[in-house]
Amino acid sequence: MPDQIPSPTGIPDFRLENVGMTFGNAVVLRDISIDIHKGERLAVIGPSGAGKTTLFRLLSAVLKPTQGRIIALGRDTRELRGRSLRNLRREIGILYQTENLIPHLRVVHNVLMGRLGRWSPPRALLSLIWPQNLQLAKEALARVELRDKLWAMPGELSGGQQQRVAMARLLVQQPRVMLADEPVSQLDIRLGQEIIELLNRIAASLGNTLLVNLHTLELLHGHFERVIALKDGRVFWTGVPEQISRDLLLELYGAEYRQMHLHEQQSEPGTCPGTATCP
Ligand SMILES: Nc1ncnc2c1ncn2[C@@H]1O[C@H](COP(=O)(O)OP(=O)(O)O)[C@@H](O)[C@H]1O
Ligand SMILES: [Mg+2]
Repeated sequence: MPDQIPSPTGIPDFRLENVGMTFGNAVVLRDISIDIHKGERLAVIGPSGAGKTTLFRLLSAVLKPTQGRIIALGRDTRELRGRSLRNLRREIGILYQTENLIPHLRVVHNVLMGRLGRWSPPRALLSLIWPQNLQLAKEALARVELRDKLWAMPGELSGGQQQRVAMARLLVQQPRVMLADEPVSQLDIRLGQEIIELLNRIAASLGNTLLVNLHTLELLHGHFERVIALKDGRVFWTGVPEQISRDLLLELYGAEYRQMHLHEQQSEPGTCPGTATCP
């Protein structure tokens, strides 16, 4: 059964029905049934190898499930090919762990890559000489507070700035849904916090659904309405961030928990993993 979260429209952005994913003999995801509603801000957590990235690749229709089905923005991803598949992917913006910018292209061109799905090939080529929609790129960079970096090369920017350029690229794509796969795992906690806040602000201003695969659990609090914990390819737990206890995390992460350094911040067993935001 999909979990029952009432939605204002009744039609979820994503409906997963008994979804499974197998690569050869390896079962990576099994029996996942969830609804994700428009405007929801949802975090996915779990140990490495749990299947989080695979889940995001299924949601963005980069992969098709080997069992069950996914209805993404009203369309069954298994039935999409060619143009219909490109159309869906255009509506789903993805932010990756590594900034994923093209190193020899200036920031403006990297940002405008977000328009590629809408441009004809000649227009895309022309844009490399004479940036098309320059105003759009400027506005997007202003939203991520990088107004003065329009003509910079990616290599001149810090990791946090590069991630913000990737966010500007997402903005010009104007997706309906935003997926971020560990967007802050290579940044320190303060920069990570900034990026997560910015992502939330952007999603809220566009009314977009936001799904973030997160390894820095301190950032769950105050930013996400719902958490899905994956373990061994299954939904291990779902709930609100305030319900996450140390015992739950120990069970979820097993040996990996010790490397997360969360225990150093906790005095009482059974309390939540946040820092200042913990009750
Ligand atoms: N294309 C693939 N072919 C074979 N195995 C894969 C493939 N993609 C992922 N896997 C396996 O699926 C499991 C889950 O991977 P992943 O979704 O990346 O987990 P997570 O993001 O939670 O760390 C891992 O054991 C990984 O090796
Ligand atoms: Mg991953």
